[in-house]
Amino acid sequence: MRLKQKTALVTGGAKGIGESIVRLFVQEGAQVFIADLAEPEGTALAEELTAAGGRVIFRRTDVTKADDVERTVQAAVECFGGLDVLVNDAGVTEKDDYCLENEPIEEWNRVMSINLQGTFLNCRYALPHLKKSKGCIVNVASMAGMIALRYCAAYCASKTGVIGLTRAIAADYATYGVRANAVCPGPCETPLLKQYFSAFPPEEVEAKVRRLTGPVGRMCQPEEIARAVLFLASSDSSYITGAAIAVDGGFTAV
Ligand SMILES: NC(=O)c1ccc[n+]([C@@H]2O[C@H](COP(=O)([O-])OP(=O)(O)OC[C@H]3O[C@@H](n4cnc5c(N)ncnc54)[C@H](O)[C@@H]3O)[C@@H](O)[C@H]2O)c1
Repeated sequence: MRLKQKTALVTGGAKGIGESIVRLFVQEGAQVFIADLAEPEGTALAEELTAAGGRVIFRRTDVTKADDVERTVQAAVECFGGLDVLVNDAGVTEKDDYCLENEPIEEWNRVMSINLQGTFLNCRYALPHLKKSKGCIVNVASMAGMIALRYCAAYCASKTGVIGLTRAIAADYATYGVRANAVCPGPCETPLLKQYFSAFPPEEVEAKVRRLTGPVGRMCQPEEIARAVLFLASSDSSYITGAAIAVDGGFTAV
């Protein structure tokens, strides 16, 4: 019960890695507020975990909209009486492979606004509450924030930005007792990756999976990312702030 009596807000918590984070946090004793666009999945997850004895609330939220994020943070604080942990997991990949000169400007803006601006907005509105609780932020970046992956410049730029934002918050808020860290997943079997691969023929998908897989030689499961997030959200990592931890099967090590 590493998050006993803790309250957490998880963006993107309705599906994929975010869903695994929500499930693990509840197992570890946290009360969890899910902020996501995916209403049916988010509502069903909150109902399932509440029926099993947890306290989980879903609010439909678009992380790109400042007023929506502000209301969600406020609602979480009102429901739970404060906020200890913010996890920024909501994110998207680009819809296709693009050379930068062909990148549609709307696609660049879409990726940046969800992945980077969404993370900024949630941090922006949660920080006053995290200062009160001496809480922490865990941002889900990507190995694409540490190194360049081919033909997804907007995604790489957005995730590098998330790592930079994480370090800036760590530097500025350590004196308030607030920590901020990032996890950088490698390819993980989730709806996001399935949707990305669905745009390509099967033989290309196989080559892509090989190209993205590190020395461990397989894609990861969402629970393997969730466990790293739990570590960074708990007091087990009390001296860690401003870190970007690769959870990528060794991809960025070689
Ligand atoms: N799956 C991977 O291989 C992988 C690898 C590295 C990093 N990541 C990162 O992990 C995070 C989770 O990815 P995933 O694979 O679980 O994806 P996913 O698509 O399975 O889940 C992402 C969630 O974010 C939500 N979301 C998207 N846009 C939103 C918005 N504007 N407002 C609120 N919620 C929104 C979606 O509804 C969804 O529930 C993302 O930030 C992603 O970039 C994933």
